[in-house]
Amino acid sequence: MGVKLLFVVLIVNINLVWSGKHDIYEGCSVHGVVLNNDEELNILKELELKLNLDVWQRGLPAVRDAVVMVTPENKPEFFSTLESHSIQYYVQLDDVVQALENHEADVINYKMRRSNGAMPFNDYPRYAEINAYMERIAREYPDIATIVTAGDSFEGRPIKYLKISTTNFADTTKPIYFMDAALHAREWVTTPVTLYSIHKLVEDLASDERDLLDVDWIILPLANPDGYEYSHTNERLWRRTRSYRPEINATCYGVDGNRNFDVNFNTVGVSPDPCSNTYPGPYAFSEPETRIIRDILLEHSGRIQIYMNIHSYGNYVLYGYGNATLPSNAMELHYVGAAMGAAMDALKLSKADYYKVGNSNLVLYQSSGSAQDYGQVRIGVPFSYTLELPGYSYLFQVPPDYIEQINKETWAGIVETARLAKLFYTGGL
Ligand SMILES: *[C@@H]1O[C@H](CO)[C@@H](O)[C@H](O)[C@H]1NC(C)=O
Ligand SMILES: *[C@@H]1O[C@H](CO)[C@@H](O)[C@H](O)[C@H]1NC(C)=O
Repeated sequence: MGVKLLFVVLIVNINLVWSGKHDIYEGCSVHGVVLNNDEELNILKELELKLNLDVWQRGLPAVRDAVVMVTPENKPEFFSTLESHSIQYYVQLDDVVQALENHEADVINYKMRRSNGAMPFNDYPRYAEINAYMERIAREYPDIATIVTAGDSFEGRPIKYLKISTTNFADTTKPIYFMDAALHAREWVTTPVTLYSIHKLVEDLASDERDLLDVDWIILPLANPDGYEYSHTNERLWRRTRSYRPEINATCYGVDGNRNFDVNFNTVGVSPDPCSNTYPGPYAFSEPETRIIRDILLEHSGRIQIYMNIHSYGNYVLYGYGNATLPSNAMELHYVGAAMGAAMDALKLSKADYYKVGNSNLVLYQSSGSAQDYGQVRIGVPFSYTLELPGYSYLFQVPPDYIEQINKETWAGIVETARLAKLFYTGGL
């Protein structure tokens, strides 16, 4: 590429980044909040509901600070409330617009650097690229991979997944491993992990990983394509689905997909405000996106041994239930989860946190209507997890240079859990 052309391309890209795309976050900043006890936690919780705050990370007193994005309108009340209760806070990101512009420039430059031969699993691919990759895999490896169109999203995007099996799912003595990603739209780093898993299983199976095909796989890389595309085109920090119900609220779209499942629906860890990021929806399974996951789980109930619902960020392997009650096989859940965490930690970057493993309520926060709990309680999946991938110091805006690292370390964890799941399924453990 000539120097002149390169220059022109750079200018065009800089313009794309500076076009004011992130202006809706003008004046927003992200703050760490230090919580010392349950009382302070409750004050923050009330503030969250009242101001409809976007909580990026839930705090746990004396363990973990909360991380909260605050809009300019909410700043006076947010800060004065914290100060009047002597709750300490600090700046995590002083300028969200700037952080998103930097992130977008990273993504564009990365795509340019990789433009010859970039694989979608080493990038942040768009909806069409994700489907094209799965379609190519199904076309080139028909003996092992089948693409399934599960249904349409609210806005009419077909939601697709791959079935990977040497026996076309006909051998019922094989356990099934089901994983999905990006139910929360802004958690971009989750989709590459699922595409990389497809790549490793189908295109690049290591000689010492052939036993992984004793398991059948269902891999759904993009559970919420409407929200995901919207997070690329309009609001980078969009989390919810994009359903529209003007009879409930004419200005706010979508629900929290991971509160929309029919298990303890609309009880804890939710907000009744249809504009909140934890609004569970008007009723369980109101969203086509969650119904699609439900139907996969139902179709294969009894054989799905592991369900891995992948999120970011925070480095957690979590299991049920979101109300702090432990499932009867909590010990096994912890054992397999801890093995997964250790396998990922063994490859982690030195600056990354170690994985933490435990009950999602006790370790992270209370929730209801989650995919994890639905799999465990209603389907009887023995190993139903929420995985929270690393965000490092970038939170949701992980620079694409880290994708390969996250893919590799997470794959090590997936391999570990697949092997253990098989042993449990066949009575070998
Ligand atoms: C939608 O929700 C917003 C935020 O809670 C509220 O300000 C607005 O009045 C609601 N609109 C309707 C039509 O209910
Ligand atoms: C928590 O949820 C589980 C699964 O639905 C249920 O069995 C248990 O009774 C609930 N615990 C409490 C304290 O509500």
